[in-house]
Amino acid sequence: MQKQKYQWNTMTLGVCYYPEHWPKAMWRDDLRRMKAAGISTVRIAEFAWAVFEPKENEFSFDFFDEFLALCAEEGIKVIFGTPTATPPAWLTEKYPEVLNALRDGTLLRHGARRHYNYNSPVYRRLSARIVTRLAQHYGRHPAIVGWQLDNEFNCETDEFYSDADHTAFREYAKQKYGTIDALNEAWGTVFWSETYTDWRQIHCPRPVLNGGHNPHLLLDYTRFISESCLSFAKMQADILRAYIKPGDFITTNGLFGNLDNHRLLNEVLDVYTYDSYPDFAFGLDRDPRTSNDLNDRKWSRHLIETRSICPHFGIMEQQSGGGGWINRMEMPAPRPGQLALWAMQSVAQGADYLSFFRWRTCAFGTEMYWHGILDYDNRDNRKLAEVKEFGKLLRTLDPVCGAEHVAAFALLKDYDNEWDARLDALHRRIARHSEAEIFAASELTHTPYDVVYIDDGTEADEIRKYPVVFYPHPVIMNEKRAAMLRCYVEGGGTLVVGCRAGLKDMRGQAYMLPQPGVLQELTGTDVRDFTFVSPGEDADPEASVWNDVLTPLEGTAVLDRYKGSYYAGEASLTEKKTGQGRTIHLGSAFSRNTVRKLFRYTGIVDLFADVVAAPEGVELVMRRKNGRTFIFALNFQTTAQQIALKKPATLLYTGEPAEGTYELPPFGTAVFEIK
Ligand code: GAL
Repeated sequence: MQKQKYQWNTMTLGVCYYPEHWPKAMWRDDLRRMKAAGISTVRIAEFAWAVFEPKENEFSFDFFDEFLALCAEEGIKVIFGTPTATPPAWLTEKYPEVLNALRDGTLLRHGARRHYNYNSPVYRRLSARIVTRLAQHYGRHPAIVGWQLDNEFNCETDEFYSDADHTAFREYAKQKYGTIDALNEAWGTVFWSETYTDWRQIHCPRPVLNGGHNPHLLLDYTRFISESCLSFAKMQADILRAYIKPGDFITTNGLFGNLDNHRLLNEVLDVYTYDSYPDFAFGLDRDPRTSNDLNDRKWSRHLIETRSICPHFGIMEQQSGGGGWINRMEMPAPRPGQLALWAMQSVAQGADYLSFFRWRTCAFGTEMYWHGILDYDNRDNRKLAEVKEFGKLLRTLDPVCGAEHVAAFALLKDYDNEWDARLDALHRRIARHSEAEIFAASELTHTPYDVVYIDDGTEADEIRKYPVVFYPHPVIMNEKRAAMLRCYVEGGGTLVVGCRAGLKDMRGQAYMLPQPGVLQELTGTDVRDFTFVSPGEDADPEASVWNDVLTPLEGTAVLDRYKGSYYAGEASLTEKKTGQGRTIHLGSAFSRNTVRKLFRYTGIVDLFADVVAAPEGVELVMRRKNGRTFIFALNFQTTAQQIALKKPATLLYTGEPAEGTYELPPFGTAVFEIK
């Protein structure tokens, strides 16, 4: 269960600002122009360690004192970042052990960012010191409303190979397994004579041929990275809590890999924030196979995921200009309307705080092409006008602040499978395919879902409110989780699982059981044959990537059969009733058509049926608060789209009544309250 301890109580607009990038003479004018645009909050300081501690143990607060005094004077609130993502040159030069390394041991040197490691005792000491000094100095500053830890934990790299990491991983393995024999057993080291005889032989992964490192070690290494980051973050939060004002929140901005963000919120933060850059859908770094498929609308998937961490989250960085570092990530400028569409997409999916990145494009440095609201020339422009316009709309949405999302089903996930899919190519392929297709089916049919992460402590009651849950590929499964799912099904739930379910244990070793292993009682199927499906060789275009040939056991109904290959006619989709509920087993990865059929078959309600009809190109989101129902309609198309309001409504933006046909302009949005 997620424990959000801070929640915004009005919709709040912010911007990322770097006083150290500009002549002081510009500050006041910047703050006034922000206010005029409806911006009330700035996020600052997260990369400014060299300003605060220009030389070892010599601290200087004058610069930011001056800026914060101006913020207080101008009535601008501040989210203050701890600067540990960018250790200064004196630090890394004197203490190279703080640096992160590539897998081959090459140290990542000064000159960019995030070049440190979480486990170096020296880095922990120096980080604790700068955070303490900042907390002591600024903790009670009246302009400050919240604190951001570091910047984007695990961004740019989520792998760590410094000496300190090797040492800490060894310790982690010792704590986890106790004896070297237990470790050998868990990691299956008898394979290829990998057997360890001494703890000194235990390392983080090092270079091996073809990347074919021991998968069980890799899985534990990923868990270890997450633990390392959590404890580094907690170290900072514990310090801050001793000094900051009651009511001020601690957050960080995500969302990145190899990190249990759910525990990060529960154990460290008060509220979670996400950095939303939908322009990646149009830039040169996009994935050409999926680039024309939902494009920027795909960011809703990340936002839904963020909502699973923290139901009412913030956006710390919302894209406001074309992206690009000097050396990579070429991206177009958002077209007129698109900036506000992306911002409203975040709000629709659960953001109550929205901060644009960044006020003005920096005229120097690696990110000099990462464009902000204002350009180098500092003139008013169309982006500023759009931010202003968006700010006006946002102020009409206070009734929606903190409103709950209404979902038709849940998508279950867990970190063991997330991380296994990083190292297991087959798992990765089916998981990526199915998640993208389930999202697409959900978007195109207006069947919204929540993501729920489960672990060994999850109770069936936590998912009971969803009549249907998709758990696409729980390749890793254990008795506890299977028992929780059984309890959910017995109580009347519909569980949908796909291929490869129940294959592995928590160590990532295959169960020597008929598949789907510990889920077999629930699925009532026996996988006696299975195969990877080569691209273009699908037995059935709707059953791609992997085919488990399902043999129905007694009492299991066959819903569909494979159409081709040597197993044509065998079951591909089955249903088994248990208690009041049922389990549906799909032998393949999920295609959007199969998902659509399953929506119909399982009777997932059409949430919008009585309220609004919209074409596929429009995203619909439903939220409720205090008995009031709100509908967001977002047009991701370059052409106007019409929706049909089936009930009398009020357009919150203007307070005007609306009913019948309503036209959304290209990239247009609307938020209605349904009467
Ligand atoms: C984010 C980061 C910002 C800035 C931005 C644009 O990932 O937090 O500091 O780098 O991307 O590249």
